[in-house]
Amino acid sequence: MSEPRKILVTSALPYANGSIHLGHMLEYIQTDMWVRFQKHRGNQCIYVCADDAHGSAIMLRAEKEGITPEQLIANVQAEHSADFAAFLVDFDNFHSTHAEENRELSSQIYLKLRDAGHIATRSITQYFDPEKKMFLADRFIKGTCPKCGTEDQYGDNCEKCGATYAPTDLKDPKSAISGATPVLKDSQHFFFKLPDFQEMLQSWTRSGSLQDAVANKIAEWLDAGLQQWDISRDAPYFGFEIPDEPGKYFYVWLDAPIGYMASFKNLCARRPELDFDAFWAKDSTAELYHFIGKDIVNFHALFWPAMLEGAGYRKPTSINVHGYLTVNGQKMSKSRGTFIKARTYLDHLSPEYLRYYYAAKLGRGVDDLDLNLEDFVQKVNSDLVGKVVNIASRCAGFIHKGNAGVLVAGNAAPELTDAFLAAAPSIAEAYEARDFARAMREIMGLADRANAWIADKAPWSLAKQEGKQDEVQAICALGINLFRQLVIFLKPVLPLLAADAEAFLNVAPLTWNDHATLLSNHQLNEFKPLMTRIDPVKVQAMTDASKEDLTASQTDTGAAQGNGELAKDPLSPEIEFDTFAAVDLRVALILKAEAVEGADKLLRLTLDIGDEQRNVFSGIKSAYPNPAELEGRLTMMIANLKPRKMRFGISEGMVMAAGPGGEEIYLLSPDSGAKPGQRIK
Ligand code: MSP
Ligand code: ZN
Repeated sequence: MSEPRKILVTSALPYANGSIHLGHMLEYIQTDMWVRFQKHRGNQCIYVCADDAHGSAIMLRAEKEGITPEQLIANVQAEHSADFAAFLVDFDNFHSTHAEENRELSSQIYLKLRDAGHIATRSITQYFDPEKKMFLADRFIKGTCPKCGTEDQYGDNCEKCGATYAPTDLKDPKSAISGATPVLKDSQHFFFKLPDFQEMLQSWTRSGSLQDAVANKIAEWLDAGLQQWDISRDAPYFGFEIPDEPGKYFYVWLDAPIGYMASFKNLCARRPELDFDAFWAKDSTAELYHFIGKDIVNFHALFWPAMLEGAGYRKPTSINVHGYLTVNGQKMSKSRGTFIKARTYLDHLSPEYLRYYYAAKLGRGVDDLDLNLEDFVQKVNSDLVGKVVNIASRCAGFIHKGNAGVLVAGNAAPELTDAFLAAAPSIAEAYEARDFARAMREIMGLADRANAWIADKAPWSLAKQEGKQDEVQAICALGINLFRQLVIFLKPVLPLLAADAEAFLNVAPLTWNDHATLLSNHQLNEFKPLMTRIDPVKVQAMTDASKEDLTASQTDTGAAQGNGELAKDPLSPEIEFDTFAAVDLRVALILKAEAVEGADKLLRLTLDIGDEQRNVFSGIKSAYPNPAELEGRLTMMIANLKPRKMRFGISEGMVMAAGPGGEEIYLLSPDSGAKPGQRIK
């Protein structure tokens, strides 16, 4: 065996001004499963996190609640910690960015950057609220869109027409905090000179530290040229004052990632075997991984490595980026009851159901992950209850009745135990690569084989026959051993199930290497049901309760702190003009639109594209329950898409629509006057 690895892992620090929801949980569960896997394998793996406690959003919310920001963040930290613990997310430390370690490290890093010439200052002009006596971030200014005239739009973009602009372009601007008309005012700001690190970033981002999709996006930003990053804010601000600059504070995103270090430093004080420098010094040989969502890639893959480099620390081994959670195919929505808080979920369902479902769907890419609630019930019930736990419950009774709970020695099916043994390296590889979906598929494949073997041997029939008792014991002993193997493989995902199984199996906590042995001549404990099926009624109760939360809850303030410097969804790849030009886009007249028998989502469209008619199937029925209303309308179609054979016939192209799906689908149309068959240029 090789030396155990030294690994430090973080999840992004959740903002301390709102509750944890199932979207956040995707990240914390993903990270926790990976960390547990590393510990299971015998590596030294430390998992730290913290609340992200600074910024104007937190300051303003505390003010609104009539408490100090310190009280607010203490309340939220208690709530967050309880939610994470209940979801079995096992941090070695959950700290806060508003902590002494973080103040010291942030100051020290800033001073190192400053002394090395990486900090610039210049004056910028910004809107200022004369009543609240504070500068206003773009999200705190509202006014009329300069482009389309829609009222009540934020200072950086219009929700109606999508225009982006500077707050000074807004007509009739108002402070969203006091309602006062803001005035322009100058102030000295501090900038981190990111362009100093262009070359380092160019090579670091190509050194295998990033997934390809992420590295490609970053390459675009690098090609476009980096800009200096504004790291200061004026008082009043809830944060750390900048050394030697009274009245100036670090922007929340400056001290947030340093919070990873601070949380680790705080842990070192309690765990003498941990050495801060061994993990963070420039020559550290420890591995460092940050798990984050796709919305905060710029902070972690550009600003953060540059700050570390500039201040003389090591850089991350890699940044692991995941996509966003959708529920039932759509963005989480308060009105549909799919904006589900961690606590609301826990009021109705066991945490391990969600952990398993996320694992079963999480690949190593940056794609969004859909929590389809029907599929969730079905998958958990069929895999965990129907396949895994079922093996133990089928076998345990015979062993207790027929052999006083003792597993006999021997191996009733070496070909099966060999297959389990042979699968272990590949399952481990999948976990290591964060391809949890593949790990779960392989484990369930093994569970299928075990069940098929037991069904074939049918110990329940043998038990009724004379003289077959030994055979029954041999079969069931192996059944329990195979169950134990599955539990070993699943332990990073299902730690509670594993603990209950360990109690039943009467064994010490299982580690990965235990998969290479079998229990023989071994006394079991009493069997208690290990997991029950999900009752769909509880899922319904959870979404109903999430609708009720609506009135009580605050808004999701995550976005309010984004700095808007780079695109929100950085990961749709650019295409060459030639790729676009190869698409034959045409105006199409809908001659006929009808429902398709036997398909709940499809409409059959007959389209006139000038020189010919086309038959197209389109999954837009839920948005157009009366398809006839589409007849006579113009739309746009891709006319050179390869024809596709479907259950109901051949689809000869595709019509274009926008929207998240379900009832929210909007068919695109050209202005009136367009003629069927006209090409889009
Ligand atoms: N405070 C910053 C992170 C600072 S890290 C130095 C922040 N906080 S957050 O609360 O908005 O998000 C925390 C993490 O949860 C982020 O990685 C974010 O991408 C992730 N998610 C938030 N909503 C999510 C979904 N709906 N789906 C998946 N992940 C989501 O950003
Ligand atoms: Zn507009």
